[in-house]
Amino acid sequence: MVNMRAHYRCVAVLFISATLCLDFEDGASPAMIKHTAFEKPRTSRSLRFKDVPLSGHGTVKRSEKSVRDSCKALQDYESKLKENTHTYAFNDLSGSVSLAWIGDGTGVLLVLTTFQVPFFMIRFGHSRLYRSEDYGKTFQDVTDLINNTFIQTEFGMAIDPGNTGKVILTGDVSEGKGSRIFRSQDFGRSFTPSDLPFQPLMQISYSPENSDILSAVSVSELWLSKDFGISWKKVHDSVCLVKWGIVDTLFFTTNPNGSCSDKGTLELKKTSDYGRSFKTIGSRIYSFGLGGRFVFASVMSATGSTRMIHVSMDQGEVWNMAQLPMVGHEQFYSILAANDDMVFMHVDEAGDSGMGTIYVSDDRGTVFSKSLERHLYTSTGGDTDFTNVTSLRGVYLTSVLAHDGSMRTVVTFDQGGKWRPLKKPWNGECDSTAGDPNLCRLHIHASYSTSMKLNVPMLPLSEPNAVGLVLAHGSVGEAVSVLSPDVFVSNDGGYTWFRVLRGPHHYAILDSGGLLAAVEHNPNHPVSQIKFSTDEGQCWNVYNFTEEPLYFTGLASEPGARSMNLSLWGYRESTISQYWVSVTIDFSRLVSRDCGEEDYVQWLAHSDNTSNPTDGCLLGYKERFLRLRKDSVCWKGRDYIINNQPTPCVCTIDDFLCDFGYYRPENSSECVEQPDLKDHMLEFCLHSHTERLQTSGYRKIPGDQCEGGLQPERQLMDLSKTCVSNLLRPELLSEAHSGSTGPVIAVVITILLISAVAGVLLVKKYVCGGRFLVHRYSEMQRHVEANGIEGVDDVDIVEAGKMHYNDDSDEVQTRTMVCNWP
Ligand SMILES: *[C@@H]1O[C@H](CO)[C@@H](O)[C@H](O)[C@H]1NC(C)=O
Ligand SMILES: *[C@@H]1O[C@H](CO)[C@@H](O)[C@H](O)[C@H]1NC(C)=O
Ligand SMILES: *[C@@H]1O[C@H](CO)[C@@H](O)[C@H](O)[C@H]1NC(C)=O
Ligand SMILES: *[C@@H]1O[C@H](CO)[C@@H](O)[C@H](O)[C@H]1NC(C)=O
Ligand SMILES: *[C@@H]1O[C@H](CO)[C@@H](O)[C@H](O)[C@H]1NC(C)=O
Ligand SMILES: *[C@@H]1O[C@H](CO)[C@@H](O)[C@H](O)[C@H]1NC(C)=O
Ligand SMILES: *[C@@H]1O[C@H](CO)[C@@H](O)[C@H](O)[C@H]1NC(C)=O
Repeated sequence: MVNMRAHYRCVAVLFISATLCLDFEDGASPAMIKHTAFEKPRTSRSLRFKDVPLSGHGTVKRSEKSVRDSCKALQDYESKLKENTHTYAFNDLSGSVSLAWIGDGTGVLLVLTTFQVPFFMIRFGHSRLYRSEDYGKTFQDVTDLINNTFIQTEFGMAIDPGNTGKVILTGDVSEGKGSRIFRSQDFGRSFTPSDLPFQPLMQISYSPENSDILSAVSVSELWLSKDFGISWKKVHDSVCLVKWGIVDTLFFTTNPNGSCSDKGTLELKKTSDYGRSFKTIGSRIYSFGLGGRFVFASVMSATGSTRMIHVSMDQGEVWNMAQLPMVGHEQFYSILAANDDMVFMHVDEAGDSGMGTIYVSDDRGTVFSKSLERHLYTSTGGDTDFTNVTSLRGVYLTSVLAHDGSMRTVVTFDQGGKWRPLKKPWNGECDSTAGDPNLCRLHIHASYSTSMKLNVPMLPLSEPNAVGLVLAHGSVGEAVSVLSPDVFVSNDGGYTWFRVLRGPHHYAILDSGGLLAAVEHNPNHPVSQIKFSTDEGQCWNVYNFTEEPLYFTGLASEPGARSMNLSLWGYRESTISQYWVSVTIDFSRLVSRDCGEEDYVQWLAHSDNTSNPTDGCLLGYKERFLRLRKDSVCWKGRDYIINNQPTPCVCTIDDFLCDFGYYRPENSSECVEQPDLKDHMLEFCLHSHTERLQTSGYRKIPGDQCEGGLQPERQLMDLSKTCVSNLLRPELLSEAHSGSTGPVIAVVITILLISAVAGVLLVKKYVCGGRFLVHRYSEMQRHVEANGIEGVDDVDIVEAGKMHYNDDSDEVQTRTMVCNWP
């Protein structure tokens, strides 16, 4: 037994280092691809509320009072749901299941089950493939399409994020040294096999602009295909990290001397013509990352003891040094979130403090303002609670480390301008962490709690089309508590909260927020009940979806939160073994009508004082949304589009940040010139040496759209001290293939913050050493919206077990991990 487990570990470790390498490399490009892809379906959705006169609607401030309205329980839903509950039992004993949605609104779902036994260094196993065309209600076994080939569970399914229906399955062909892929262009109806001259180590990745162009990485080699995987060409050796950027540029780091673990010696290159020519755009690179329209690189100083972030806004042609502190060997930088406007950057503090400082950038990505100190971010695990609340503009949540060592949740409603604690939920009781009742607040459990294996099955959940809605696990007290968390909901983007469910749950947002569903998290007991709410969590109805309870592993619904079909995945035990079951409930029969004009009320986002003329102003504009009345039970439908009416606000001093060379003295809102720039430890370059830096000391906050009002006009100062970074030496030469190949060790970057729509999900069940089971449920993102999120710098590595479950690519997010001793 001990030996078996040792083997397993060993295999796991080897395997992990492989995936890590991949994950890292995989990070950016899918986000970028998805970014562009996500917009496409949007434009085709009809503008349903275009003609709704807003004046006819009373402005309703959603508050405690409306939430306290008595629950009007739904009637007779039991029989309607029974008729629309579809159970599919997989005649399959495989250890793991992966699911992937193909296309947008097609209802096509591919399910891959894999049975594999880790045995020394060889893994052998087999896969089965199932396909559904009705959102998971029924499946067809289509394993013959892949001829029983073993498909990599972790990264074997690559779905085109552009929703063109392209799918690639990556198989292991154990006899040869190559591998086989199965390509489909018809939503997985048929597959064509082709053999690869190499063994991919990570998911094959689609070019964001053209889904026929694919990139893949084998041990240190970069391969490209221009014909959707029929022919492949090796374009570069000694490759470490590869990411697709915008305008079809492929960025990658290389180390001519072979070892990617020699960080700080790497070269950053790009190709814009699919490998015909390469350009070296940086050297002494430690790591790089992409976010929005920015390219970031952390560059080693000449002494090799510190490094600094450099930023480019033109795909690596011109670099500027970011106005951020340098970090030493044991520290790290991390991009928490980035879009085309700005970036949130975490800079680790010296020493093993587990915390650092968040900086927010200006629109050039170069001038950074301090946003939050004592930000929790463990250097060992790479865990941070930083969460983009995607259902309301400008809202982000995270945790800080208090001086007494406790963790507290803080929220910003203005894109990092100010952070404050959350309000105490009106129906939450303070737990034992609250000494002083005045300090009793809501604290949210996010990634850090899940990495600490607290009983938190899901991270905070928000969807861009479910305006204002946030679901999260939390506790009420002075600090985050390890006691069993409850589920809280906010429907105004995080200003006010209320407890909706006791104990941990899995939850899902359906019909653009019109329907919420939750299943109690209890890994040791089979479940047969699902709870759902049609009024944003005020009232919950219970439905017994089965007579035969199942061990529940996770909820799955089509990405984008527009669906009304929800699948519960789990397994049942028969006398000899376990088999997978999916139960799909179609909630659309529950509601008898489509929502009409009278079902909506107008809601002003960010409103907290209606008598104030600037009430609701955020980054220079107000937004009014039409939201469903709480008591309306109706169907928003797939074509629902959030309707908002932005109106500009007048500018105030708060709409400006201080430009380089200026600062705001404490308790003052005016930006004053820094007395001595030489004292400033940072070098600063703007547009290299080509332009002089002129500034009035103020600069509009990125994304701010205020009009009129205060315009801090001042004489332009010429800070002609502009400098050229001596760290980057872009040798602007095209080069042929570099020669040497060597063993490549994974470079690891933390990949952060997964808050977007659930896309592909993996439900995994590993057989560990034959004695205990690990059930693993993870979720993949398909549509990362504007947030091209990835870490930029290194977080040094963690012990193996932990990585196994936490350091999957940014596309794969582990939700729960349970080991059962039978
Ligand atoms: C399936 O695999 C077997 C063995 O590898 C091979 O002999 C057979 O030709 C394959 N069939 C198809 C349709 O590829
Ligand atoms: C590669 O190795 C050689 C000799 O060991 C050394 O001189 C050279 O600087 C190295 N190049 C890089 C980029 O590390
Ligand atoms: C659902 O199941 C619970 C216990 O499992 C039971 O108490 C309850 O009566 C059931 N409800 C219905 C409507 O069958
Ligand atoms: C639910 O699934 C059915 C197919 O079984 C499909 O026709 C329907 O459009 C789906 N509903 C939604 C809201 O996705
Ligand atoms: C609301 O705004 C008005 C006008 O600016 C101000 O007089 C009042 O004190 C504010 N109320 C609160 C509670 O902040
Ligand atoms: C700033 O304001 C705070 C609270 O009003 C006060 O405690 C602090 O002393 C002030 N700082 C300065 C430098 O005036
Ligand atoms: C946060 O999410 C919203 C909605 O998806 C997105 O528009 C925004 O760009 C994200 N913010 C950042 C900094 O990535």
